[in-house]
Amino acid sequence: MKRITSFEQYTTEYKKSIDTPEKFWSEQAEEFVWKKKWDKVLDWNFDEPDVKWFQGGKLNITENCLDRHLKSGKGEQVAILWEPNHPEAEVRKITYKELHLEVCRFANVLKRNGAKKGDRICIYMPMIPELAIAVLACARIGAIHSVIFGGFSFKSLADRIQDADCTIVVTADGAFRGTKDIQLKGIVDEALEICPSIKKAIVYKHIHADINMKNERDVWWHDEIKFVSSECEAETMDSEDPLFILYTSGSTGKPKGVVHSTAGYMVSTDYTFRNVFQYNDGEVFWCTADVGWITGHSYLVYGPLLCGATSLMFEGIPTFPDAGRFWQVIDKHKVNIFYTAPTAIRSLEAMGLDFVKPYKLDSLRVLGSVGEPINEEAWHWYNDNIGKNRCPIVDTYWQTETGAIMISPLAGITKTKPGFATFPLPGVQPVLLDEKGVELNGNGVEGRLCYKFPWPSIIRTTYGNHERCKEAYFATFKGYYFTGDGCKRDEDGYYRITGRVDDVIKVSGHLLGTAEVENAINEHPDIVESAVVGFPHDIKGWGIYAFVICDNERKDEDNLKREIIQTVTKYMGAIAKPDKIQIVKGLPKTRSGKIMRRILRKIAENDLSNLGDTSTLLDPSVVEEIKAGAL
Ligand code: WTA
Repeated sequence: MKRITSFEQYTTEYKKSIDTPEKFWSEQAEEFVWKKKWDKVLDWNFDEPDVKWFQGGKLNITENCLDRHLKSGKGEQVAILWEPNHPEAEVRKITYKELHLEVCRFANVLKRNGAKKGDRICIYMPMIPELAIAVLACARIGAIHSVIFGGFSFKSLADRIQDADCTIVVTADGAFRGTKDIQLKGIVDEALEICPSIKKAIVYKHIHADINMKNERDVWWHDEIKFVSSECEAETMDSEDPLFILYTSGSTGKPKGVVHSTAGYMVSTDYTFRNVFQYNDGEVFWCTADVGWITGHSYLVYGPLLCGATSLMFEGIPTFPDAGRFWQVIDKHKVNIFYTAPTAIRSLEAMGLDFVKPYKLDSLRVLGSVGEPINEEAWHWYNDNIGKNRCPIVDTYWQTETGAIMISPLAGITKTKPGFATFPLPGVQPVLLDEKGVELNGNGVEGRLCYKFPWPSIIRTTYGNHERCKEAYFATFKGYYFTGDGCKRDEDGYYRITGRVDDVIKVSGHLLGTAEVENAINEHPDIVESAVVGFPHDIKGWGIYAFVICDNERKDEDNLKREIIQTVTKYMGAIAKPDKIQIVKGLPKTRSGKIMRRILRKIAENDLSNLGDTSTLLDPSVVEEIKAGAL
């Protein structure tokens, strides 16, 4: 496997990727199996936006994830190594050959149930190998997968199914999470009542729950599989055909369906996986993210499989049966590369070293961090106690919209600094802009992080609404892709992400739109209006602070708060539960009715001294009341 092996080489490759991007990326793309080679490497225009990579090329990404490895003699190697929720339950080891077979069979099941190229298929599954199989089976037949994180509940699921007009949902009877059983099928049933586009639900039996199967609509995975052959020709796809939709939160209540294309996504995920983690053949790579998020798509499924790696998939949670589970799994499966989120690191740090001490952790070679800024304390804890000061840490910065890692050290090659994502990967051209959109040159500057040139796995559109893609990413600063993040470039040219500068909050590494959480809170019959902001949280990075107006005098505030939490859990999912709820009489609004979130943010952060100018408020007295009741 070709990869960068020294910092000097990184510097030359980086330069090459900037001076001659087309040449650089076509060299990377040549490694793959193409049904027909591309005619043109790149066409782009950030104003529309309109970006096309490897136009005229024909391929199927699953041939590159699977068939290619069978031909090169990797058939017997484990592709997916599955660790169940319960430590005593049976491990599953699925070789490349077996995975190929299962993907082909399930692809035929999809076809048998009416799926065609271009159809949208929703996947709402536990973290079991069948989730990866379903994803790849969609890609095999050219259907567009839309994976919804299993922690979302029925309304979030329904909104996403409706937005993409999905025709099939692939799900399971339920999921095991720690000591809990999650009744996934019940949630699907509730969602499907308001999703008429769904014609079929294919259900995998996993927890043996007692569920309802609706005649005509619902079929069992294990029944269907009996009727199909295990051969399935890979559909011929254009380079720019959409591979998947993945929803991410934005500043309105409606999540955005980020669309990724086939060839560009393939080239970027493969390239970044190899180079960032410095993967060696035969190593066990463990990404702890759920496939419901982009990290799971790119570094649990596609990136590792494209590189012929062994990808560990874990069904459970870090604290079951105790807070040593991650470390136990690392020893058990001799994990070489471990990739997780700062929230997980901080919460395990808080449990104490007694949970780490029993384990050797000597198989580890590289550690990774993703999803949110990693604070220095957590970085050192991770480095000292897990990496034992001998494993490089790669702090990988990227987004659902970028498809692949953008700014990150190369393991063992880039000199790291705690809290810094370090340098852009080859092909990535970051710039920092001031509020007016002027580029800040040189080092020792801080601004809004943008990119001025496309990379292969850049977002192509937001499903069904191209204007929204333009608005959200390409309109703020003309001619640039805007990340929504603040960033510093220090005296040595190292990049450090300072966090979001818009109305989304990173809670435990999950991106949540404040408007989406407000909508869920407002489903409570007694709530007239609410405003949600983030506040710094020791473990989760950011917590959710909700200010709510109740329309009748409720004396039992504690009960009301409990009901609000239940409502949010029911409509959106437990990940969006507010940490603090303050019942208020009014919200600080401008005369035109806009909520001044800046003031609420300060109150939530407990920074009451300097609330800024409140004179433009319709009723400045509400601020005093809110301040007095601040939690
Ligand atoms: C944040 C997750 C600091 C950032 C892959 C970004 C990070 C958002 C890092 C995207 C990091 C991700 N350091 N912040 N290493 N990685 N972020 O779409 O705010 O779930 O814009 O993709 O996470 O979140 P998303």
